[in-house]
Amino acid sequence: MNKYKLAIIAGDGTGPEVVREGMKVVEAAAQKFAFTYDAVPFDFGGERYLRTGEVLPVSAIDDLKKFDAIFLGAIGHPDVKPGILEKGILLKLRFDLNQYINLRPVQLLDARFCPLKGKTPDDINFTVVRENSEGLYAGAGGSLFKDTPQEVAIQESINTRFGVERCVRFAYEYARKYSRRKQLTLCGKTNVLTHAFDLWQRTFNDVGREYTDIKTDYAHVDAITMWMVKNPEWFDVIVTDNMFGDIITDLAAMIQGGMGIAAGGNINPQGVSMFEPIGGSAPKYTGKNVINPLAAIGAGALMLRELGEVKAADAIEASIRTVVTTKIKDLAAGKMGYSTTEVGDLVVKHL
Ligand code: IPM
Ligand code: MN
Repeated sequence: MNKYKLAIIAGDGTGPEVVREGMKVVEAAAQKFAFTYDAVPFDFGGERYLRTGEVLPVSAIDDLKKFDAIFLGAIGHPDVKPGILEKGILLKLRFDLNQYINLRPVQLLDARFCPLKGKTPDDINFTVVRENSEGLYAGAGGSLFKDTPQEVAIQESINTRFGVERCVRFAYEYARKYSRRKQLTLCGKTNVLTHAFDLWQRTFNDVGREYTDIKTDYAHVDAITMWMVKNPEWFDVIVTDNMFGDIITDLAAMIQGGMGIAAGGNINPQGVSMFEPIGGSAPKYTGKNVINPLAAIGAGALMLRELGEVKAADAIEASIRTVVTTKIKDLAAGKMGYSTTEVGDLVVKHL
């Protein structure tokens, strides 16, 4: 029987509530599909920072490297200045664990939950492969003459051939193995960001020569926001840089029904990956048992798929689909017609 070591970072706000449901479903899947795991909790997040003044202990990265996967709730606390926890925990884990892919599947499960008129589950079913280790997120740049009228702020986008190539290659492989239509769209801004996206475009073309079975396409980032609303059915797999990927996946999450259902994986194909609902800590709903746990449950399925428990992942995703199409009134917090824990129970029941 396969046994996994899972690190659980429940985090802030509603993170612990949704992680509890996510793990409830993982536990049910473990029984049904005959695998086991050890789940080790880590208390990283805003509360710990406010209590100890330490964002992340120095041992954290080495400790986490010993796990097979990390399951993360949410990071972000209303009493902590923006940036401290995001950069000090979430981005640090992504960077230091070399999770260079942010994989965000986008799937509408029920037309009732789509804000776009006339779009069905068949129209909204694509995956965004977001570069997760470089770009504007690398932190390059600095400030001069701070707090003076002459203040200068520079924030540079770092794009390396190595980093872009491994991301683009991952996207081609993903399109080949998993996508519906074997189509890969590069999303960039080649008309303005002529250094960065020239590198992306050439790398995309070069690597593409090894994947003649994959149809390729290109869209500027501004145009893609338009097409995602007007013709989301055009997309199959999209690959893009870190910043654009961040932006377009919030839009993508909305057309699939909102943050309550959007899950993602921070993938290090050679190391330890981290899975999370992408919606954030939603502090105003904390402790009310009203937040939608389906994104976290979906993140659990992504985690099991990455670990190789494909049947368990398929079963969880099928159960989520059943619950969404036959039970849930609304995907938004407080409007589901069920509490957070009841939604977790429903997914277990239909597994
Ligand atoms: C996301 C989030 C993070 C990001 C923030 C919280 C640092 O928005 O996972 O998309 O920008 O990557
Ligand atoms: Mn984001």
